[in-house]
Amino acid sequence: MQDFTTKTELVAYLSKIAKEKTIGFIPTMGALHQGHLSLIEESKEKCDITICSIFVNPTQFNNERDLVNYPNTINADLEKLEELSCNVVYIPAIEDLYENKETAKTFDFNSLTTSMEGKFRPGHFIGMATIVEKLFNIIQPTIAFFGQKDLQQLQIVKALVKQMKSTIKIEGMPTIREKNGLAKSSRNKLLSESAKKEAALIYSCLYYCKNNKKKGITELKYHIQNQFEQHKNLKLEYAEIVALNTMQPIEGWQRENENAICIAAYHSGVRLIDNIIL
Ligand code: PAF
Repeated sequence: MQDFTTKTELVAYLSKIAKEKTIGFIPTMGALHQGHLSLIEESKEKCDITICSIFVNPTQFNNERDLVNYPNTINADLEKLEELSCNVVYIPAIEDLYENKETAKTFDFNSLTTSMEGKFRPGHFIGMATIVEKLFNIIQPTIAFFGQKDLQQLQIVKALVKQMKSTIKIEGMPTIREKNGLAKSSRNKLLSESAKKEAALIYSCLYYCKNNKKKGITELKYHIQNQFEQHKNLKLEYAEIVALNTMQPIEGWQRENENAICIAAYHSGVRLIDNIIL
């Protein structure tokens, strides 16, 4: 595996790759888990060259403590990437991507950013889009792979690529889960075993919605609130049923597979998000 810490070296390497070779790209913030690894595997299947970036992007953290506590497992990450025969890893320092104290850019993603993560993490998506655009411009991948666990992020990245008038294909990959249904996440590393067991409530609520769609949206949201009230270690931040194309809460069902139930909740100070398409 080739590793680069500067975009100059990476671009020089990429310029030597034959034009007809396809490039698969997986942007990450490290603390790699099975979810990330499934994206690498998919890229290895579909593309000639697979590139993974590891960069904890400061502009997408609206909470300083969250940034400071973000898990760093770089040596283990590199081992996992080697094992999967990832071709390239790019691990830049902040200065390589943000020059002269530059901050997040301004974007307009309409309704996609105003609900849920956009509402509770102000500035998060602007910071995320800023870094993803920079990485796309450096790497110019054929396909970029993102997890569906971050559903709102995935929809925004698709909109970003349209705004960039880019040909990059965005592939959303299924959420990988623990046996008890808890979505794999870098933040799970901050949870105790018992917290992980309790946090499986998030998935059981999502699953309940999938199986009880006919109860209607109001009833399903009420059910979730009720479940969280009975589990005092978990604090529900939001449970929203949204239209996939707008990411806005809906009062009536859209067509099959065009709705999503999205939950954000805290356990022992760790923020967890998950969703299912309905
Ligand atoms: O999903 C993430 O890990 C981050 O938001 C991303 C896409 C790597 C941008 O920093």
